[in-house]
Amino acid sequence: METSTTLNTKQIAKRKATLITGASSGIGFEFAHSIADKYDSDIILVARREDRLIKLTEILSKKIKSKNKNRSVYYFAVDLSNEQQLDKLIKDISDKNLFVNLLINNAGFGSYGTFEETSLPRELEMIDLNIKAIVHLCHFFSKEMIEKKEGEIINVSSMASFQGLPYLAVYAATKAFVTSFSLALASELSQYNIKVQALCPGPVQTEFVNVSGFPDKISVLPSFSAHDVAELSLRRLKNTGCCNSRIVIPGFMNCILAQLNRLLPRYLATDIAMKVLKKKFKK
Ligand SMILES: NC(=O)c1ccc[n+]([C@@H]2O[C@H](COP(=O)([O-])OP(=O)(O)OC[C@H]3O[C@@H](n4cnc5c(N)ncnc54)[C@H](OP(=O)(O)O)[C@@H]3O)[C@@H](O)[C@H]2O)c1
Repeated sequence: METSTTLNTKQIAKRKATLITGASSGIGFEFAHSIADKYDSDIILVARREDRLIKLTEILSKKIKSKNKNRSVYYFAVDLSNEQQLDKLIKDISDKNLFVNLLINNAGFGSYGTFEETSLPRELEMIDLNIKAIVHLCHFFSKEMIEKKEGEIINVSSMASFQGLPYLAVYAATKAFVTSFSLALASELSQYNIKVQALCPGPVQTEFVNVSGFPDKISVLPSFSAHDVAELSLRRLKNTGCCNSRIVIPGFMNCILAQLNRLLPRYLATDIAMKVLKKKFKK
């Protein structure tokens, strides 16, 4: 039997919230700041490093208070590659009576090296985080978006999603999944007034390079600040009726490269990428 307290909770209109995964550093951290500056929703921060999340929650709460806005910032220290923790996160968010109307699936990592020398548990953990967690969160939170005919989803993919990438074989494949999945979802959900964006950056100055074990100066592409990437993504999300906002590639050169790539036979593009990366690897 439902108690009067639960009935009351259900009767209160849900507050809108933005959920950002991987908010403890890099692009996710910048998304969190941009949302606090420009949006009127509550903010839910997710990552594993609790100390960083606590600090960010304090900073964003102060920022919001200084603008006299009645909004809350929540954080959850969760390993998204762990299914039990992911289930618990979804339950904990549901208990807060929030409507996640903007979902930013940003948490992710890569792993650099020849496939044979990579660690299998680490590659499988990457698949759990970069693919399974995104599918799980999109599946749960899109249901309420569909019901309310309102919502936005940003899935952070990569330029690596456009081709097979030697020495980053599993990472590039996880991102190919994210881009393909996001495009399909964007088509399915547009009838419910829900936008889905695959954000496909080239190199961005974050902790990603260290975490993923890249050698120095591996990239031949221009690099961007995490702040600029997050801002561009949110700006493009607001481009109403623009199909180009479904895939967002920061940087003119990167956009050209992504298109050029499609003109070459796929095996050739992959072999060229291997030659370029191999040279960098040897330096
Ligand atoms: N930087 C680039 O050059 C680049 C280029 C293209 C695409 N991307 C993509 O951009 C996204 C963000 O990466 P970034 O560049 O901002 O790198 P980053 O600075 O390393 O940030 C990654 C974030 O993901 C979180 N994370 C990692 N594993 C997690 C787990 N198991 N559970 C929960 N959170 C986890 C990290 O927090 P904790 O460690 O505290 O958990 C951190 O907040 C990734 O999806 C990446 O693939 C990056």
